Amino acid sequence: MPPILVTDEGPVRTIRMNRPEKKNALTLAMYDAMAAAIEEAQANDAIRCLLIAGQPGAFCAGNDLNDFVAMAQAGGLGAPILRFLHALARNEKPVVAAVSGVAVGIGTTMLMHCDHVVAADDARLSTPFVSLGLVPEAGSSLIAPRLMGHARAFALLAMGKPLAAEEAKQAGIVNTVVAVTEFEQAALAAARTIAALPAEGVRTTRRLMRGAAEEIIARIDEEAAAFKARLKSPEAQAAFAAFLNRKR
Ligand code: COA
Repeated sequence: MPPILVTDEGPVRTIRMNRPEKKNALTLAMYDAMAAAIEEAQANDAIRCLLIAGQPGAFCAGNDLNDFVAMAQAGGLGAPILRFLHALARNEKPVVAAVSGVAVGIGTTMLMHCDHVVAADDARLSTPFVSLGLVPEAGSSLIAPRLMGHARAFALLAMGKPLAAEEAKQAGIVNTVVAVTEFEQAALAAARTIAALPAEGVRTTRRLMRGAAEEIIARIDEEAAAFKARLKSPEAQAAFAAFLNRKR
């Protein structure tokens, strides 16, 4: 099975992360496949809503830490990562997410580009960037304070304080919290409801609410430059080694 499954059912395109044995940690190939699915949807009038999903218990464990080690050695940030982040920022289709279990790093920050997030009650959002020696990415340093205010955004992004499902709802990232047995269905129902609305009205509303994509892209690029430098930091190297060599 490919690690990203893209399926169109009527007007809803589901982009499903499908590497459950690694809790959907994202590899460069996965970023590329997700970016391609978002990019292709832009000019495809048949697609009226995107749904980003993972598995019960594992939305996404963030970037694959082995890839971070390789990137630090190569001195770059993988092009597919920026391709995916730019695709999210430029995307004009409404996005629903179905989140259960871990949502770490990009697993949380990608939700800031979604319009309607359905969480299972076991969802746990976290962005341990700073304790990993890194800095926030995906435009989250711009979007999170707008969403939840500076104080709560600082606790999440700088202090790495995780958000349980209900806390994420209070913080404005999550719309609804439902049982694990129901979150997929609830997310699909939301996507179908959005897809049934007048498409142009949804698109214009969304664009007005989100502001200029270029502003978000500029922040993504600024964050990426800092991130790339931090990947080589002794703190990051030590944090990656500690995770990858941990006793099981
Ligand atoms: N990169 C690479 N592999 C990862 C990963 C990541 N980000 N997250 C999880 N995995 C792997 C684990 O190494 C393990 O692989 P193994 O079975 O071959 O040893 C497998 O996925 C399952 O993870 P495990 O840690 O056993 O699951 P858990 O339920 O105990 O914990 C997490 C889940 C997500 C809390 C934990 O795996 C974790 O902290 N991952 C790192 C998250 C992270 O720092 N991401 C980067 C953010 S910028």
